[in-house]
Amino acid sequence: MNLKQMVGIEAASYVKQDMIVGLGTGSTAYYFIEELGRRVKEEHLQIQGVPTSIASREQASKLGIPIRTIDDVPYVDLVVDGADEISADFQGIKGGGAALLFEKIVASYAKEIIWIVDQSKMVDTLGKFPLPVEVVPYGAKQLFRLFSEKGYNPSFRLTADGQLLTTDCNHNIIDLHLTAIEHPHQLNEELNQLVGVVEHGLFLDMVKTVIVGQDNGPKTILVPPRKIK
Ligand code: A5P
Repeated sequence: MNLKQMVGIEAASYVKQDMIVGLGTGSTAYYFIEELGRRVKEEHLQIQGVPTSIASREQASKLGIPIRTIDDVPYVDLVVDGADEISADFQGIKGGGAALLFEKIVASYAKEIIWIVDQSKMVDTLGKFPLPVEVVPYGAKQLFRLFSEKGYNPSFRLTADGQLLTTDCNHNIIDLHLTAIEHPHQLNEELNQLVGVVEHGLFLDMVKTVIVGQDNGPKTILVPPRKIK
């Protein structure tokens, strides 16, 4: 069993009868959804799944997991999702799979968030992984110029065949190659204020539980309560 599968299966054990469950996106969340599908089928677990992307919706529905959108439910009991980097103080970068907008919306209405990662995603400081910024296509090149001027080393996200990537919401992604993000809250504020930026991949002060896949088994970390920023 690989480390992503290990944490996906472990996280599925947190799902209880009748929960409304946010279904993350990516190669780690994939295994969580597979295991949920198994539990629905074999253990008659009754849940409602709220997918964070078209890919996760298609996977879950093939597995027979009842699907709702975020607008169909009053809240989400638990969302389980992957992450691209988690810092020593449990802030995250997400969006490597381009699903950050739906992921952040679903996370905003979740009572509990679990991130599942293999050990390579745990870092001291965020920023080695490029920070995704989701932008509307109109004016995207202006934002690109602005990011260049600020020294943020932007690049437009492309598909495998070299086309400009379009998200599930028909936006584009500009990745910022920052190397180290020393002040994530400051950058969060700055990006939130830019017209044309829809969302970005800094997920701050959100996660309560992290399950890390290690060679000797899954390690569950309960994030200490945060100080008010
Ligand atoms: C999707 O947009 C992302 O936020 C993913 O959750 C993140 O990129 C982790 O993906 P992997 O599990 O595929 O590494």
